[in-house]
Amino acid sequence: MKISKKLQNWVNECEALCKPDNVHWCNGSEEEYNSLAKLLIEKGTFKKLNDSKRPNSYYATSDPSDVARVEDSTYICSKNKEDAGPTNNWMDPAEMKKTLNGVFDGCMKGRTMYVIPFSMGPLGSKIAHIGIEVTDSPYVVLNMRIMTRIGEKVLDVLGDGEFVPCLHSVGYPLTDGKKDVTWPCNTTKYIVHFPEERSIWSYGSGYGGNALLGKKCFALRIASSMAREEGWMAEHMLIVGITSPEGVKKYIAAAFPSACGKTNLAMLTPSIPGWKVETVGDDIAWMKFGDDGRLYAINPEYGFFGVAPGTSMDTNGNAMLSMEKNSIFTNVALTDDGDVWWEGMTKDKPKHLIDWHGKDWTPDSATPSSHPNSRFTAPASQCPVIDPDWENPKGVPISAILFGGRRASIVPLVNEAFSWQHGTFLGSSVSSEMTAAAVGTVGKVRHDPFAMLPFCGYNMGDYFNHWLNIGKKTDSKNLPKIFYVNWFRKDENGKFIWPGYGDNIRVLKWVFERLDGKNNFEERAYGIIPSKGALDVSGLGLSETEVEKLFAISKEEGLAEVNEMKDYYKIFGDRLPKQLNEELEKLEERYNKM
Ligand code: OXD
Ligand code: MN
Repeated sequence: MKISKKLQNWVNECEALCKPDNVHWCNGSEEEYNSLAKLLIEKGTFKKLNDSKRPNSYYATSDPSDVARVEDSTYICSKNKEDAGPTNNWMDPAEMKKTLNGVFDGCMKGRTMYVIPFSMGPLGSKIAHIGIEVTDSPYVVLNMRIMTRIGEKVLDVLGDGEFVPCLHSVGYPLTDGKKDVTWPCNTTKYIVHFPEERSIWSYGSGYGGNALLGKKCFALRIASSMAREEGWMAEHMLIVGITSPEGVKKYIAAAFPSACGKTNLAMLTPSIPGWKVETVGDDIAWMKFGDDGRLYAINPEYGFFGVAPGTSMDTNGNAMLSMEKNSIFTNVALTDDGDVWWEGMTKDKPKHLIDWHGKDWTPDSATPSSHPNSRFTAPASQCPVIDPDWENPKGVPISAILFGGRRASIVPLVNEAFSWQHGTFLGSSVSSEMTAAAVGTVGKVRHDPFAMLPFCGYNMGDYFNHWLNIGKKTDSKNLPKIFYVNWFRKDENGKFIWPGYGDNIRVLKWVFERLDGKNNFEERAYGIIPSKGALDVSGLGLSETEVEKLFAISKEEGLAEVNEMKDYYKIFGDRLPKQLNEELEKLEERYNKM
């Protein structure tokens, strides 16, 4: 393996601090994967699933206290507090380093320290970047091999170039004869980002985005800060290719808060004939300008780390097929024949399961069999509708950007922004009912601008400004058009009005036609919506009144939202770009004219 001096020095520093028993450089091979999986089976962390049901796949359950991203313990340690902004936890970098040097000291005693070279994005792509994760968790190594491109080939591309150092420990040293547990972790947790030195330190958790540092920590928090400095975009967005019945293909990117159906939209099976949707990515998009002035996107990831409950052949057949083999399942339930199950996977519940706590479960049990944030880790290449260009190093040209949230009222099914600036305003106004993806109160509506609230690595006010600047970097005809969608609107009886899932293609169809400049729209105070009859609702059995309900916002409701936004914007102080206040004032004027 070709290891640069700089990399070797950093790994030596990690070793000196963490004091592991051994150091293992991951080459990324299948033999390595299999032998680590075997080790995890011996430790009791993994169970191998029945090979005839789900070949080469494994099952794990976490410590019940380590099940989701820990936003309260997540820090952006920029030199100045203001540069982390009002939406991030901050600590002085020198102070934080002191704390971290304390908790990391000897934290890997009795364990092996794994060094994982990984590439976010196709190897060698100009849009891609390289990181090195040092971890004491073999579970993390195996998940990283599915979620990113890892191993020797990454070092070949890296040479003596720049990498993002990512140090991770579960924080459970095996000292004084302490026995290992199946899911080692620590009640003290720190997920820390140093944007100025572009490094990540994560301590105490082995789960998901806390531990697979390529995903949220690097590809969003650190990358968003790199992107602002370098004039590109790192966004919490899926990427799909949509082909019309006429054979015309366009790519769109879409930002939704966690667990709002991004994976479902990314792999959508269209309910109307002739349309095709192909997946480039389901969670993160990195976008840079091409020579033609358009934005080109790559999916920096290599796999899907999707929420399991609610995923079924009906809701997302392509996700189900992606995880038929070579996958890892965490915190779901185990069937008697050695396969996995979760709430919503099949209409009929199995008569008996072992739940995620390792206890017997039957349909009469009082608690769900699987944790609401239980996950599957599956290779993207196994997705039956993976886009032929998903690994194109140049990326795919983006024609539209969608924002969305989970909102029972007030937010319409779809509306188009009047301009890039208005679209930036729409992105800043995203709010959503909270889900189980993060520790917190499920169901509570919270502002989640651009679906980046937990993922923006710098001051969110500056991030809004970065979006406005991106809009000035190219001719406006090259910019993606911006839309806002909400599949989750409910009627007065609390029932969803819109069927969602495969029928969301109907909204994408209207978006597609708008991109072609079709005159099928009307203007409302809040934005551009389909004119009467322009949204294809054929066969849905929705009355005209119900369709109108999907778009209705009264003057009172609209003005109340404006006031709420005015209040929200106050937290950004003088970092809020004045253009966003202008957009808010214009919106208020339009509502007042209603
Ligand atoms: C995720 C998240 O895991 O957004 O993708 O929480
Ligand atoms: Mn996500």
